Amino acid sequence: MVTIHLNGKNYQIDENAEESLMQQLKKQGAEIVAACNGAGICQTCAINVKSGELTDKTDTEEMMDLPEGQRLSCQCKPKTDCDIDLIY
Ligand code: FES
Repeated sequence: MVTIHLNGKNYQIDENAEESLMQQLKKQGAEIVAACNGAGICQTCAINVKSGELTDKTDTEEMMDLPEGQRLSCQCKPKTDCDIDLIY
């Protein structure tokens, strides 16, 4: 388990789970907009990563040319404790 700090709250996330960071955070009540439900199209689940390490960018994320430090929470999983902000 790793700890994700988001909007003043800590969430315990299983870094070995099949589910994405977005799916696991939403299950625990985090209010993340996920308009495309994890298809990697809408970008509403984008996060700003202030610290910590996530899995490598997917091809979908690479194609989107996201600004430095931004990721799609539906496309990644944490590898370490992370401090993140929601973009939307
Ligand atoms: S939920 Fe749409 S890109 Fe992540």
